[in-house]
Amino acid sequence: MVVRISTDEIEIFKKCVELNEPFSLQEIKMHVAERCNLRCRMCRDWSNHSGAELSFEEIKDIIDQAKKLGLLVLKIFGGEPTLRKDLPEIVCCCHDKGIATKMTTNGTLINRKLAYDLVKSGLSEIVFSVDSFSSDIHDKLRGVPGSWKKTDDAINFVTEAKKSCRSNLRISANTVVTRCNYESLPLLFRYFASKSIKRPILIPVIVDPDETEKSELLLRRNDILTYNHKILPQLTEIALEESFDIKEEELQMYGTTDEEIESSTKSHYSARILVNAYCFKPWYDLSIRGNGDVSPCNMIKEKRYNPIGNVKNENLEQIWFSDRYREFRMMCKRKFEQCKRCCYSRSAICYSNLMKRLYGDG
Ligand SMILES: C[S@@+](CC[C@H](N)C(=O)[O-])C[C@H]1O[C@@H](n2cnc3c(N)ncnc32)[C@H](O)[C@@H]1O
Ligand code: SF4
Ligand code: SF4
Repeated sequence: MVVRISTDEIEIFKKCVELNEPFSLQEIKMHVAERCNLRCRMCRDWSNHSGAELSFEEIKDIIDQAKKLGLLVLKIFGGEPTLRKDLPEIVCCCHDKGIATKMTTNGTLINRKLAYDLVKSGLSEIVFSVDSFSSDIHDKLRGVPGSWKKTDDAINFVTEAKKSCRSNLRISANTVVTRCNYESLPLLFRYFASKSIKRPILIPVIVDPDETEKSELLLRRNDILTYNHKILPQLTEIALEESFDIKEEELQMYGTTDEEIESSTKSHYSARILVNAYCFKPWYDLSIRGNGDVSPCNMIKEKRYNPIGNVKNENLEQIWFSDRYREFRMMCKRKFEQCKRCCYSRSAICYSNLMKRLYGDG
């Protein structure tokens, strides 16, 4: 998802950017469950999670406040969101107010009934995390045997429910690309095609400098060369053949020059894209954690900005228009160190495209 901005609104958006004032709060990423049933090797969330959870009433109130600030999309996130029992109610509450919902899930807890309830409640997009077509590779990465089979079943249940409800639900997939799975991506793309998943999102694994235990998941120089010369052409061909909704630059994750490849081996995927652009997310988006903490981006670890406020003590409007949020937007133009390894590397492409739209190529 990316900011909705019409040609008429471009000058307004530019003015907001210039003044570090918000455009409109179009998207919220809400961590509806701060716990997880899997133990993924690339993710620390399962060990860090507090278990704190906003109640349904609190979420409903936030949605009402956010609607007045322009909310278009609620991104339902975790931990693992399906650990909550009231997900269909959350989706329904948004649907009734004309707000789209997009949920990212490992899928392992979605049975036939939950699939039906979610679709019936008006879920707009579901993103399944699938790291390989091979159950062995996927289960090893996800840390729990049997995960792949459950996710595969969930995709089938959701597809069936979508058909029976004649819904427009979009079914997408996230794949975290690591040294363990990059060579088998073409087979995974074939698997997605067999499941009618048209939007595969490849995310190069993000490894922070202090996460030495994860560094073996990073592609090395030779892996990237193999990806660029052997895997990428196959992915491009399948994407074309299957009419996937994925752009060439999204598949071109690691860059091609020596410098870009070297950066990518350090998990600095966005560095090259953000050279001539910056992140516009804080002009239209924020994240809310289970304890109510609000941050413009939870990838940025600075205490001053994470959190910037808490919905339990202040209303959303106060936080959204606060001086500290304004300061964060200003800092974003200079880029945070973390932005180089932004997990929204796909969004980084969007930001660079948005930059071109706003300010032209020069
Ligand atoms: C944190 S999970 C939360 C939602 C849900 N539990 C799931 O796995 O889909 C959101 C997405 O981040 C991805 N992810 C986790 N760790 C990552 C990492 N180190 N680098 C890139 N993506 C990662 C997951 O695979 C998933 O697609
Ligand atoms: S399922 Fe999602 S939240 Fe849970 S450990 Fe894996 S990536 Fe992290
Ligand atoms: S890490 Fe930086 S580029 Fe990525 S979403 Fe956060 S602020 Fe934007």
